[in-house]
Amino acid sequence: MSGRARAGAFAPPNGISGFKGLGSVNVVTVNLGESSYDIQIGSGLLPTLGRRCVSRGLTGRAAVVTNPTVNALYGDAVQRSLTSAGFSVTMIEIPDGEEFKNAVTLNRVYDALIEAGLDRRSFIVALGGGVVGDLAGFAAATFMRGIPFVQVPTTLLAQVDSSVGGKTAIDHPRGKNLIGAFYQPRLVLVDVETLSTLPKREYCAGLAEVVKYGVALDGSFFDYLERHADALLAMDVECLMAVIQRCCELKAQVVELDEKETGIRQALNYGHTLGHALETLAGYRSLVHGEAVAIGMALAARICALRGECGDDDVARILKLLGYLGLSVTPPAVEPSQLLDALLKDKKSREGGINFICNHGIGNYTVAQLSPEELLTLSGLGV
Ligand SMILES: NC(=O)c1ccc[n+]([C@@H]2O[C@H](COP(=O)([O-])OP(=O)(O)OC[C@H]3O[C@@H](n4cnc5c(N)ncnc54)[C@H](O)[C@@H]3O)[C@@H](O)[C@H]2O)c1
Ligand SMILES: [Zn+2]
Repeated sequence: MSGRARAGAFAPPNGISGFKGLGSVNVVTVNLGESSYDIQIGSGLLPTLGRRCVSRGLTGRAAVVTNPTVNALYGDAVQRSLTSAGFSVTMIEIPDGEEFKNAVTLNRVYDALIEAGLDRRSFIVALGGGVVGDLAGFAAATFMRGIPFVQVPTTLLAQVDSSVGGKTAIDHPRGKNLIGAFYQPRLVLVDVETLSTLPKREYCAGLAEVVKYGVALDGSFFDYLERHADALLAMDVECLMAVIQRCCELKAQVVELDEKETGIRQALNYGHTLGHALETLAGYRSLVHGEAVAIGMALAARICALRGECGDDDVARILKLLGYLGLSVTPPAVEPSQLLDALLKDKKSREGGINFICNHGIGNYTVAQLSPEELLTLSGLGV
């Protein structure tokens, strides 16, 4: 299987549909029939959240699920905006960290929703990074058999990836994201201004997912990232809006074609097979997700060169861009047998091997069936 996202060459800022410069809102629509929704991207949008929820037809009580870090920074602005648009608002804090994306926290959220009197005409707002978005989204998918929810992503990773596409989940002691649902939000509101407070490490980790879109799906976007790496590192608002919009467009196209991940949506797993295994083995927070994905992409690119899918020049460009964006491409020292175990447990592995996403040159992907043993050898991590 192979492919690339539809749409022609990436030529922002002027070539982006709807791009009107600072002060504007860029809109990407995810077309999924009755479950369609808009991703609205701009700078300084948080105070407009309430009226945007009204115009999406949302009513009643709003429960904002967030964590103490994000609440301290943006909770007031969100609460004020929702209140002045006529909603009664309950703030629900969950502890900060992946280790709390679990059933215990989810139950506390259900308790708080019941306590606050939310019913089927109410809605949930997920205010935070991917952890908050995944857990609050799953709460919305399951509370009273499903109530509407709105994503307000505040990390770069959540703005370009996790808030779009409707995957919601909590972790299980036996593995990440094992309990979840496909459940689309009613609206995604991306305020790039929230990135100004994000720790640099988290910002760079998000850039790894940005690079992923270019390598696997859009070569012109990759070129753009190379040319605008300095602007991205400087968090130039115009550049950020263009980049987030392009990532959301690519994710939307992929999700529209394959909402439940049976085909092209797999392309978004580029760099994730080895990345995820290394993330698990490296131990708590020694690698954050995007950092592990950057290493996984570097290994994937080298594997693809060995398999004749891309040239050494492509590999060099990918490694150079990742390095320039502050991402290490050196794998941590891991025991080969442990890595093999982690690959064998990969939930995407099937009989006959793992569906390994290869970059075909830069901007196209193919899927190869590789056994965990082959992957270990090709990656050079097996010795
Ligand atoms: N649903 C999907 O399709 C999908 C895709 C990719 C990843 N994910 C999930 O996303 C999660 C990772 O998300 P993440 O990288 O956003 O991590 P995260 O949610 O843990 O956020 C990272 C850190 O940044 C803090 N933070 C968030 N916004 C901030 C801001 N504006 N200013 C200052 N600090 C801020 C958070 O409190 C946290 O400490 C994982 O659980 C992963 O499984 C889901
Ligand atoms: Zn990822």
